[in-house]
Amino acid sequence: LVDGVLKKWTGATTPVYSTISSTSDYAPTLLGTIPSMGEESAFEVVSAAEKAYDNGQGLWPTMKVVDRIKCMETFVTQMKATRTEVVKYLMWEIGKSLPDSEKEFDRTVDYIYDTIEDYKQLDRNSARFTKSQGVNAMVRRGPLGVVLCLGPYNYPLNETFALLIPAIIMGNTVIFKPAKHGVLLLSPLMEAFQNSFPKGVINIIYGRGREVASPIMKSGKVAVLALIGNSTSAIALQDQHPNKNRLRLILGLEAKNPAIVLADADLDLAIQECITGTLSFNGQRCTALKIIYVHESIATEFNRRFAEKVDALPFGNPWEEGVLLTPLPEQDKPNYIKALLDDAQLHGAAILNTKGGQISENYIFPAVLFPVNKEMRVYHEEQFGPVIPIVSFKNIQEPLDDMAESNYGQQVSLFGQDIRTIAPLIDTLVNLVCRVNLNSSCQRGPDIYPFTGRKDSAVGTLSIHDALRSFSIRTFVASKDN
Ligand code: G3H
Repeated sequence: LVDGVLKKWTGATTPVYSTISSTSDYAPTLLGTIPSMGEESAFEVVSAAEKAYDNGQGLWPTMKVVDRIKCMETFVTQMKATRTEVVKYLMWEIGKSLPDSEKEFDRTVDYIYDTIEDYKQLDRNSARFTKSQGVNAMVRRGPLGVVLCLGPYNYPLNETFALLIPAIIMGNTVIFKPAKHGVLLLSPLMEAFQNSFPKGVINIIYGRGREVASPIMKSGKVAVLALIGNSTSAIALQDQHPNKNRLRLILGLEAKNPAIVLADADLDLAIQECITGTLSFNGQRCTALKIIYVHESIATEFNRRFAEKVDALPFGNPWEEGVLLTPLPEQDKPNYIKALLDDAQLHGAAILNTKGGQISENYIFPAVLFPVNKEMRVYHEEQFGPVIPIVSFKNIQEPLDDMAESNYGQQVSLFGQDIRTIAPLIDTLVNLVCRVNLNSSCQRGPDIYPFTGRKDSAVGTLSIHDALRSFSIRTFVASKDN
């Protein structure tokens, strides 16, 4: 099955991958090339963004709120006209299925409209009175400066815009570096950007991090580093800023979200949600379930039924109807997953499903691993791909202790039916992660919900509501109440 579909995919007359280098090392057909810009371009975008911001005195940060809203409305209107084209690129460039690509586009349009609405309600120009101390205060929200935005490949539109849109609407100017996969989908949007915003407000730069993002950070002109991706890049970039105490960070990073399946869980529901949670977009989501803890009394049945279901999942080209599993944009991902499987098998785990681990060029079929333990890499690493480690537990304290020891703390899924067990557990779980999903898989949406994490999973909070606050500072004018 995997072979058949891949041949069709790689043999398609429609090219598949984008790359920022003219000499692609990717096996599937090349979709297009974009030159990797260098230091000189980096300095140009810094100077353009800085000029448009001009220490808060520039055209954009001083523009009337209603006019900034008009720019945003022009943009979203023109963006809507690019839907078919952008959705095509989402499928071709990152291998996202048609319904998920359409969902990403529509969700992003909604995100922009909702952000505009939220911006109108922001605590700006509202009076605050502190009668007892005799003070009147007029509160405002102001921009922070030049923002460097780095978006991820798995949501090149939605998550990138979740940084870009609130940053701009608050009056900041932005330098935006898209991920390597998902860069071409910006081309249909270029005209909309140009028609909607004054020069210097959004500055897009392509290229390798060390060649473009490093010089931008070293310039010392960046006020906010907004990144969704991995902590290694975030730390490296932060360290390059000559005055990092002044740098605000807004980061969405790694996670190892667990599912905990209690002995009384509705098994059909738990299995279905764990399939969606682990394998939507092949597990390439920071919110994906990345480890499953199953109570030992139901582990045998859960594992058998789960493994059977995984083997039956439809694999195909992103544009084919009904596919869940699609090829992986990162060419070396199958080898990385294979190394995790080898390591787990070496330490005593077995692959439970027949097709698990079958490799074909840029695809590896999801592998269900059991029993997984602390000796194994897959127990600790964020796999960000199609491998599902399962751990069985006797006492609920075992998964709770693991979560407490983990470096991550984004979300958890809890499956069970007895409210007397669930209620106290929730009280414990909310202090370990930032979102508890009851009898459902982990996810970021609806986009109005706060999106953040504890420990190494996040810095700051995103969401329609929170991002406007993250990308701004509250200022006020105080006067004595005479
Ligand atoms: O990569 C992490 C994404 O924020 C996941 O978003 O839960 O909506 O798929 P999602």
